[in-house]
Amino acid sequence: MKIVMLNGQNHKGSTYHVGKLLIDGIAAEKQVAEFFLPRDLNHFCLGCYSCIEDETKCPYYTEKNAIMADFEQADLLVITTPNYCMAPSAPMKAFLDLNFTNWLSHKPKEFMFSKKAVVISTTSGMGANKAIKPVAISLSYWGISSIKKYGVAVQAMNWESVSQDKKAKIQKDIQKILKSLSGDAKPKVTLKTKFLFSIFSGMQKANMGSSKTEKKYWEAKGWLGKERPWKKKWQPKKKSYSSL
Ligand SMILES: Cc1cc2nc3c(=O)[nH]c(=O)nc-3n(C[C@H](O)[C@H](O)[C@H](O)COP(=O)(O)O)c2cc1C
Repeated sequence: MKIVMLNGQNHKGSTYHVGKLLIDGIAAEKQVAEFFLPRDLNHFCLGCYSCIEDETKCPYYTEKNAIMADFEQADLLVITTPNYCMAPSAPMKAFLDLNFTNWLSHKPKEFMFSKKAVVISTTSGMGANKAIKPVAISLSYWGISSIKKYGVAVQAMNWESVSQDKKAKIQKDIQKILKSLSGDAKPKVTLKTKFLFSIFSGMQKANMGSSKTEKKYWEAKGWLGKERPWKKKWQPKKKSYSSL
């Protein structure tokens, strides 16, 4: 199994460790690529819209693409972010902004429809779910149907200070997520994703997209007709991660 772990923080604190517990618990043979933000993508979206015409024109395309190329290879995405002021970390939000053209309303990538994702957040007292929500919304509008969420209040500033009782509870919760992950080998594309896709297909057809290049993109893939990204048997181009 190929896994990408994308961490919305550079340090290995509680959030990273909870994500690691999940990955370590996966019994299958695995290859894991880890990214840390802002270390691996230290930029904010400039709002220049170059990406709408051509994603390679984004000033930060090289760094973005290093992460996206490994996303393409992965079976499972594990995305972690601490709760910072009732929201994801700023570098995680920047990552989402920098990839907004992946949304179904723009130029969705067909490989997203075959991914599973787990979004994890820790918080001191409350708000882990508020940090998870914006990440999960983006992933879902990228076309990912299978998104599990896990937020936990650790009452600590670092993993070392998390109580043994809390760590035992986290282990138990992680076991449940692992069980649910092992259930379906291929994630099912939900009706919600299919419905959203047809709405956005209709919008592109009616010239309500952001640019002519978007319509051309949809047209070339046959998505303005009967073709659908989840119907195509998708094969990764490369065999291994580019970052490893
Ligand atoms: C900038 C910042 C903002 C935070 N905001 C909140 C908050 O709104 N609510 C809360 O309960 N904890 C908050 N915390 C605490 C962290 O969410 C908590 O300690 C988390 O487990 C840290 O994860 P880490 O060990 O992976 O860094 C904040 C911490 C920082 C550094």
